[in-house]
Amino acid sequence: MNRPARYGLIGCPVKHSVSPLIHKHFAAQTGQAVSYELIEAPADGFINTARKFFDGGGRGLNVTLPFKQQAFELAGRCSEYAHKAGAVNTLVVNDDGTVEGHNTDGTGLARDLCDNHAIALAGQAVLIIGAGGAARGIVPALFDAGAARITVANRTPSRAEDLCTDLGMAMLEACALDALGEMSADAFDGVINATSASLDGEMPAIPEAIRPAWACDLVYAAQPTPFMRWFAERGAANVLDGFGMLIEQAAESFHLWRGVRPETAQAAAALRTQVFP
Ligand code: ATR
Repeated sequence: MNRPARYGLIGCPVKHSVSPLIHKHFAAQTGQAVSYELIEAPADGFINTARKFFDGGGRGLNVTLPFKQQAFELAGRCSEYAHKAGAVNTLVVNDDGTVEGHNTDGTGLARDLCDNHAIALAGQAVLIIGAGGAARGIVPALFDAGAARITVANRTPSRAEDLCTDLGMAMLEACALDALGEMSADAFDGVINATSASLDGEMPAIPEAIRPAWACDLVYAAQPTPFMRWFAERGAANVLDGFGMLIEQAAESFHLWRGVRPETAQAAAALRTQVFP
């Protein structure tokens, strides 16, 4: 029997990652002979550790904090989304040994919103709160999925302005978080929390005037985050966390590596009960 093709997640830290569980599930579901390991690289040792994995026969890697920008530099060629984000979360080793970089986060989010939650992004106005790497990675895919206008609001307004200048997309605008109160209640169809506030059990200061039909926190947890509760209590019809995006971005990586697209809706439900029993 052929040895399984080797993949993995490289980052620092990685030990609590659920990615091995997801890729094991996809492999069983699709009958693909793959293995998926966790690789913790020293803070100054990303390139060496990744190269060693590839030299040892590794066929691809997911990349997480703090190495997504370095992965962009390592990749010989990058997808448009990776270029726009300046960050790579998926490395693919081609048959000729060259390494390609992709960013599947935005596609994963757009798929989860549109396919799994029936949110029709076409023509919608979307508010993204936060202007770090997470926000940067999702903007182009949301436009490609049909969003008509995207506003990036950040606590530090200059970071939102930098993001918009760097991406240079026509219907993308920056806003200070504390200027959102001047907007009308129907200014946005949906709001995405791309800040790291939920990780600390907090939420960004969002004015009452913001009343979207849907709200999505990119963070996931066993219980709804403060951001999710805020919008559920204010009548948002659709409130979701980032677990679906996690599954969908993993499925995109799996597809890039194996040329096979796993089923994700049932996988997400099954994996959620495994992760949060
Ligand atoms: P990531 O790469 O995950 O996006 P990051 O680059 O550290 O992480 O960015 C974190 C984002 O969360 C920033 O937009 C940050 O706002 P500032 O740029 O003003 O620091 C935002 N953030 C974190 N905690 C927040 C809070 N309590 N309220 C509002 N914004 C917050």
